[in-house]
Amino acid sequence: MLNASALQHGVALPRAFPSYPQLLAFLLIIPLINATATYAQNRAYTTPNAPLLGAAWYPEQWPESRWDADLALMEQAHFSVVRIGEFAWSAMEPSENHYEFAWLDRAIALAARHHIAVVLGTPTDAPPAWLTSQYPQTLRVDESGNRAQHGNRRQFSYSNPLYRRLCADIVRQMARRYGHNPNVIGWQIGNEYTDESFDAATRAQFQQFLHEKYKTLANLNAHWTTAYWSQTYSAWSQIPLPAHGGNPGLLLDHKHFVTATWRSFQKNQIDTLRPLITSSQFITTNIGGLAWSDNWDHYAITADLDLVSWDNYVGQGHLDVPKNAMLNDFVRGWRRQNFWVMETQPGSVNWAPVNNALSPGETRALAWQDVGHGADAILYWQWRSALNGQEQYHGAIVGPDGKPNPIYPEIQQLGAEFTKVRSALAGTSPLANIALLHTYDSRWAIDLQPHNRNYEQQQVLLDFYKPLENIAESNGGSVDIVDPTTAQLNNYKLLVAPSLNVIDDTLAAKLTAWVKAGGHLLLGPRSGMKDQFNSLNQQRQPGPLVPSLGARVEQYYALDRSVQLVSPSNSLHLAADSTAAIWAEALSPVSSDTSVNLEYIDPQGWLDHQPAMVTRSLGNGWISYLGTLPDSATLDRILRHAAQDAGIDSTSASPNGIELCRRVSGDGRRSLLIVINHTSKTDSITLPARYRNLLRRQEGPPTDRLSATETTITLPAQGVAVLVPEAQP
Ligand code: GAL
Repeated sequence: MLNASALQHGVALPRAFPSYPQLLAFLLIIPLINATATYAQNRAYTTPNAPLLGAAWYPEQWPESRWDADLALMEQAHFSVVRIGEFAWSAMEPSENHYEFAWLDRAIALAARHHIAVVLGTPTDAPPAWLTSQYPQTLRVDESGNRAQHGNRRQFSYSNPLYRRLCADIVRQMARRYGHNPNVIGWQIGNEYTDESFDAATRAQFQQFLHEKYKTLANLNAHWTTAYWSQTYSAWSQIPLPAHGGNPGLLLDHKHFVTATWRSFQKNQIDTLRPLITSSQFITTNIGGLAWSDNWDHYAITADLDLVSWDNYVGQGHLDVPKNAMLNDFVRGWRRQNFWVMETQPGSVNWAPVNNALSPGETRALAWQDVGHGADAILYWQWRSALNGQEQYHGAIVGPDGKPNPIYPEIQQLGAEFTKVRSALAGTSPLANIALLHTYDSRWAIDLQPHNRNYEQQQVLLDFYKPLENIAESNGGSVDIVDPTTAQLNNYKLLVAPSLNVIDDTLAAKLTAWVKAGGHLLLGPRSGMKDQFNSLNQQRQPGPLVPSLGARVEQYYALDRSVQLVSPSNSLHLAADSTAAIWAEALSPVSSDTSVNLEYIDPQGWLDHQPAMVTRSLGNGWISYLGTLPDSATLDRILRHAAQDAGIDSTSASPNGIELCRRVSGDGRRSLLIVINHTSKTDSITLPARYRNLLRRQEGPPTDRLSATETTITLPAQGVAVLVPEAQP
């Protein structure tokens, strides 16, 4: 039997595949894993009474006589929070310096009477018409040089000092009025930072940013290799703001500039809010782009917040279970903390090519999966569609007549369930001893020059995530996705870096020290090709990690067909039809103690019998490099071997279709399991011990239940159970 000590120290691993009940028995024991993990490094906001349920509500769009009916319907659906105000600038400040907050006072007070707390949005994503007509210089300019007009949102220039001053003015007024309002629990800054500006003033700021970074033009010219194509700059003012491509060094620095500019845009509002609000009110922003957009570095922007929140939309199609799991884990990694889903779809959206609705039960399953991966609040967008405006077709909880839509009872059920699990969920988080490494520099460097258009980084990350998530899930754990340049790595046993393209000397030293101390690092293809200036590392890949790996990449190839993979002496137990596609790197050991784990078979090709994967022991750990993208069964094999070697049991698999998400309290004493049947048929699992299902219903069909005397739980399609060990109070 596996025990907690084995999990911590990597000994006494079972060789045989345990049965599923045995596997679940581990889940009872694993609370003993060191639960302090990676969650204690930031100023953290802990959501009281999580999970919260709510919606975006726009009282300014409706007659006040309607508000009470809306809030009553929300209360009946067990809502505990609404987000309001983020597009209401013209209602709060109808003309310059003329403020009208009485309506907002009444809306917040009425919400309180319905036991619904408020997150206040600062309205800076949608400046009012008086502002943009009086100060047209605050309007953004797009890549082609066209200035935005009024009539949409996001029409402002994020770098414009006057716009920032006007933002600070409205935010100051709001903070003075609501910074100590007991029914306002937090603040959302703006809304989904999205569009940059390419105006002349922004270009001058970019040049200043580069001047501060590089100090001298000679330094900049050297790092960007501007001798190439006669790009050498002799004055800072010559440097372009790249709108349509350019030198890779310039393009990477533009991403850094965009990040720094959104960060200072946000900081302007944080600095206005912070002295005027109570410490119990959090500051967040809702991150859009389905979490994956790479306009700016999400680790950097969220570092200044108290709480991460994101907008989780499925869009067209249906819940993609592994992808949604990965995206939630990705979001949790930005601050290594629980987060909120500030917006999600009540059935459908209006912006996909086909705006189909999620199936009955799917909206609830999506919400529970988010909670299972670390969400502490779920808010729907939106409560009710405005009668006019650009989003009339978007999914909503009530219709244009103000009566519930068919999705209402499903969301109401979720609300009732959230109230049942609150005390068990308090202070719990997913816990991981496996991490995937991800940085925006690497993302940008590859996407600027993909070399093979089929090298899609979200897909590559997902391909690596799936087997690791399965291994973690069957051990009662989770997978973190973190930026290794800033995250503490001490609590992980296995680090996997699928496309860590940019590795500088500092990161290489950190990873090498971690390996020597007993960690296990598997680098994936394209790792360490570039330095922090997007220049090629002269040692070849993996750059400054070549001495630690004792090997380097001789040559990389974009593949237009697949090639065979074999493992010498079949130490990895690969299937005979193992293949690799899209990308292949031929490795070459430079150290006698580096062993080859995989080779390509490619008769008459460059890759024939070249090493595809190598490993070397280093200190108390090991470092491996996998130079290709294997088929899913082969990648599963490789990652299970890596996990096993890192002291993580990888011999069992979690069941298909039923997901088990575990959250553990900070002291490791309490845990709960969120069990979701993502399939379209009723299914059962047998538990090794007795749990209580907090969602158990007394009446109705014999599904969704866990009887007090049996240990089998039967879940209908999209069914959910929330289990706590019977012995746990
Ligand atoms: C989000 C946005 C909301 C709403 C929603 C519709 O990106 O923050 O304001 O537009 O999309 O899906």
